Order: sequence, then structure tokens, then C-alpha cells
Amino acid sequence: MARGLFSRAWLSKTYHFQARLSYIRVKYLFLTWLAVFVSSWVVYVQYSTYSELCRGRECKSIICEKYSKGIIDGSACSSLCEESSLYFGRCLSTKPNNQVYTGSWGDHDGVIKCHLTDILHYELGDELEPKKEVALFDKPTRGTSVEKFKEMVASHLKAKVGEQANLSSLVSLIFSLADSNKDGHISLPEAKSAWALLQLNEVLLAVVLQDREHTPRLLGFCGDLYVVERVPHTPLYGLSLPWPMELWIPTGMRRNMEQWFTPSWPRKAKIFIGLLELIEDIFHGTFGSFLMCDMRASTFGYTNRHDLRLVDGRRVVAEEAFKQAMILQRCEDDKDCIYGVDCRTSCNHVEHRCKAEVAQPNLARACGALKDYLLRGAPVHLQKELEKQLFACMALKGSAEQMEMEHSLILNNLKTLLWKQISHTNDS
Ligand SMILES: Nc1ncnc2c1ncn2[C@@H]1O[C@H](COP(=O)(O)OP(=O)(O)OP(=O)(O)O)[C@@H](O)[C@H]1O
Ligand SMILES: [Mg+2]
Repeated sequence: MARGLFSRAWLSKTYHFQARLSYIRVKYLFLTWLAVFVSSWVVYVQYSTYSELCRGRECKSIICEKYSKGIIDGSACSSLCEESSLYFGRCLSTKPNNQVYTGSWGDHDGVIKCHLTDILHYELGDELEPKKEVALFDKPTRGTSVEKFKEMVASHLKAKVGEQANLSSLVSLIFSLADSNKDGHISLPEAKSAWALLQLNEVLLAVVLQDREHTPRLLGFCGDLYVVERVPHTPLYGLSLPWPMELWIPTGMRRNMEQWFTPSWPRKAKIFIGLLELIEDIFHGTFGSFLMCDMRASTFGYTNRHDLRLVDGRRVVAEEAFKQAMILQRCEDDKDCIYGVDCRTSCNHVEHRCKAEVAQPNLARACGALKDYLLRGAPVHLQKELEKQLFACMALKGSAEQMEMEHSLILNNLKTLLWKQISHTNDS
């Protein structure tokens, strides 16, 4: 009897054990399947995004084909297409039509930038760069004399930067850039490449500011592909999350996290002084004023010595070109009158056209964008004064010319206040 009971108990125990085992097995099987499913989905999404975003090979083959046919020429062409001494490294692109790669070229650490124009993801406000014209390399046409090309360049520049007394020296700068083999004359392929490059805001700015220090130096070009110096630290925050993580972390939390990864305060102050200097350079600069229409932290980087560099100049436009483009823009509301990320004008409700004058100067938008960056971690005795000056700066309205005195006063005060704090530290 006892034996019967025992064996029944044992049987039921085994049964329970087996049932439990198969339940655990199913559970683990399911979890394994889920893990495999999720990870292959992540890999698939990563891969498809990568292959959409990173098309450096295509960029290279398009450019090199044009080079081999003799349509374009430039200082980077033979390194890129014949000697293979200019390599495409890590893909940094975040948009498919704007290819950005780290590149190495001899001793230089560079960044290669190339435009793929077949994908027409036009963004609102990017129409100041006529992309179609760039890729075709149809200008200047065969038979155009150097004099005629000079006129073309001059009138293009005049439309961009307005009537400037020293326009001819800007034309000369462009010509010395275009003469990539330095043989003293501009061939048709060189002229075509120079014309294509000239349409790009970033290149124009690099030429205009070539003897200043806040834009990366242009190292070379081939057609409308160009190579600039690599800036070691981007963005302004030390933190740059891989995009799958960015999707998961809410914006508010991300903004907070970014503030944890910033350099020490004196270094941030030095970086901000760099931004103030850049603003000074392009306000009534040698070739007119420019508007920086993207003040997001991703636009800037800094060197190992904490000197600010502008890494994305695509939304820095000559003020004259900005005005001309804005008055042509139709609008129902003020929000239709935005260029880039943060250059706004207002809407003329009678004529349904945007007004020409920018609502806030570069300085005010820069103070607004970097207020938290600069205030966090600031020495206690400085907090109040710094905050006061930053708010005064953010309150500046209209274009810089309209309140020149106040603009320079605020800029200089901020610079002096920050310099005084850091001039005795190693970081200056
Ligand atoms: N000279 C440079 N040195 C180092 N990094 C650079 C340089 N130029 C660009 N980058 C980096 O390349 C990446 C892509 O730059 P890009 O400005 O083209 O795209 P984005 O800012 O991510 O997108 P978008 O400006 O269209 O919103 C950015 O992370 C930027 O920091
Ligand atoms: Mg950018």
C-alpha cells in the first residue's frame, strides 16, 4: 500500500517536474526566439539605414567617372581616383543626399563631403543652395573665355554677398582655389568644379574666412566633393549617442544627459569665446555679413585646445542672399518665414510675402542656444552677472546693423567677463 502510494506520488512528482521542465523549455525557447527576432530586426534596420545613409562608394564612382571623362578636375582628383591615397573612412552622414565621411589623405586627417543629388529630399529652407545645378557640371560651357568666367563668378558673388568694394579680391581668392594644379591658368574642368563648389554655402564661407581660425581649412576638392580638416571633438557636448539609443531616450532626458558630458567650465567659457569671435568675424566681415542659421550644438566642434570650429557651414548664408530669398517666399504665417533651423523673419500679411529683415542677429541666437551650456557649472560669484548679460544678449532684436552699438557692447562685455575668469587658468 505504502509502496503504491509512494510510486503514485513519485509519478505525479515526475509528471509535475516534466510539465514544469517543458514550460521552462517553452519559455526559454520563446525568449530565445524573441531575442533572435529583435536583434535581427535591429541589424536589418541598422543595415538598411546604413546603406541608405552611407553611399560613399557611389559618391566616389560618380565623381571619378566625371574626372576620367575630363569633365571635372581638382586638387583631390588624382589622390581619390588614381592613386587611392584619399580614403573614405567612417560614415558620419545623417541624411542620404549629404555624404560625410572621415577621410585620411597622406598626413592629413580630413572629412570628405560629397553631395548626391539624385535623391531629392528637399528640405524647407534649403533652397538657397540650388542642388540640381551643382551635379550637372554644365557651367561654364566649352568655349567660355577666362574673362567671361571671371564675370560669371563676379556676378554670382555679387548676388550672394551684395555690392562689396573688394569683390574683385574675393574673385581672385576663388580663382586661386580653382587653379588646383597651380599652373597659372584655369582649365575648363577646373572651372566647372569651382563653379559647382561656389554654389555651396560651406565652401564660400571657408574661402571668405580662410585666414580666420574658426572654420576648418579646405584641404582639397574634386568636382563638388571636397575635403576639410577634421575637428577632433564634435558636437559641443562630449556625448554623441548612436542613433538607435537616441530614439529610445526622451528629448528632455537627453538634453540633461548632454549637460553631464561637457568639458569643465573654464573650457566651455573658452569655447563660447570662440563662438563670439566667429560672430565678430562674420558681422561686417571683409566680404559682408553672414547669417548663421543653425545654432544647434551639432553645428560646432572644438579642437584639443578648446578652440571652437564650425563643422557644418551649410546653413551659414550671406545676409544679402538671405534677404533676396526671403522676400520671394510666400507665407500665410510667420512660421512660413524660417530659413535653416533658426533664422526667422516675419510675414507681411497683406502681400503674403516674407519680410527681408532677420528677426534676431546671430549673437542673440547664439546666446539663446548656449545659455544652459555656459551657465551650468559657472563659478557662483559669476552666475548672476553672467545670466544678466546672457538675457540682455538674447533680447537683441532685428539685424545686427540696426543696433550696431548695442550689439558690439553686449558682445564685448560678455567676452571681457569670460576672459577675466579664465585668463589665469591653463585653458586660456
Ligand atoms: N570637419 C569636421 N570634423 C569633424 N566632424 C565633422 C566635420 N564636419 C562634419 N562633421 C561631422 O559629420 C556629421 C555629419 O554632419 P552634417 O552636418 O553633414 O550632418 P548633421 O549635422 O548630422 O545633419 P544636418 O546638419 O543636416 O541636420 C556630424 O556629426 C558632424 O559633427
Ligand atoms: Mg549639421
